[in-house]
Amino acid sequence: MARIPLVVGNWKMHTTVAEARALAAAITRSVLPAGVELAVCPPFTALADVARILEGSAVGLGAQDMFWEVAGAFTGEVSPVMLADLGCRYVIVGHSERRQHFGETDESVARKARAAFVHKLTPIVCVGERLEERDARQTERVITRQVEAATAGLSAEQLAHLVLAYEPVWAIGTGRAATGPEANRVIGLIRTVLAAHDSAASKHTRILYGGSVTADNVAEFSQQPEIDGALVGGASLDARKFLAIISGYARRTLA
Ligand code: PGA
Repeated sequence: MARIPLVVGNWKMHTTVAEARALAAAITRSVLPAGVELAVCPPFTALADVARILEGSAVGLGAQDMFWEVAGAFTGEVSPVMLADLGCRYVIVGHSERRQHFGETDESVARKARAAFVHKLTPIVCVGERLEERDARQTERVITRQVEAATAGLSAEQLAHLVLAYEPVWAIGTGRAATGPEANRVIGLIRTVLAAHDSAASKHTRILYGGSVTADNVAEFSQQPEIDGALVGGASLDARKFLAIISGYARRTLA
C-alpha cells in the first residue's frame, strides 16, 4: 500500500501578515519535488493572504485549530465553514500545545475531527505522550487512549482519509527528536489501534512524525516504513530548511 508522503509546516503563533506572505511566496517560488504532498498552516490572521499566494500551487493550506460548531455565540472561535471558505484543505486538531495550555481534551479533539470531515477538511490529529508518561513507561497506554478517542465515530472512509501525527511532547521545540526506530515503533502501534477499528482503512491512513524534525535528521524518519511524513514546527519558518525536509521525503518516494 503506497501512501503518498505528506509534509506539513505548522507556523504556530509566528508571522505577521507580511511575513507570512513572504514565507509562502518563498515556498511556492521554489522547485517543489514530486511525489510528496505539502501543506502549510499559518496563523488564522494570515490564512486569507496565504491562500491567495498558494492558489494554483501544489502547496495546500491548513489551519492550526478550529471549533466544531458551524456558527454562533462562541466569541474568539473559528468554525470549519470559515476555514473551508478560505480554501483550507487541512486543519490541525489536538496539538499538544492546545492540550497543554488551552484545555483541549480527547473528547473535544474527537468532536473537532468529526466536524472537520463534515466540512470536507482533512483533520491532522496530533497525539503524543508527555515526558513523565514516557519515563513511567506509559507511552503505549496514552497513545492508544488518544487514538481510540480521536477516531471514535469515524467511518471507514473517514479513517482512510484521516491524517495522524505522532508528536511526543518532549520532542516538540526542544531540539531533542525521537529516534527513527522509536517513532516508527509508536507509529506502528498507532496503525494497529486503527486496524482494530477498520483493518482495510488503516492501511491508507497517513501517520506523520513531528517533534524537532530538521533538514539534518529528516533521513532518520523518512527511511522508516511506518512514517508517512512530517509535521514541522520551527524548521518550517525558513523556506530553505522546509524545502530540504520535503526533499528528504521525496527521496524516499523515488527510492
Ligand atoms: P517543532 O514543532 O518542529 O518545532 O518541534 C513540531 C510541532 O509542534 O508540530
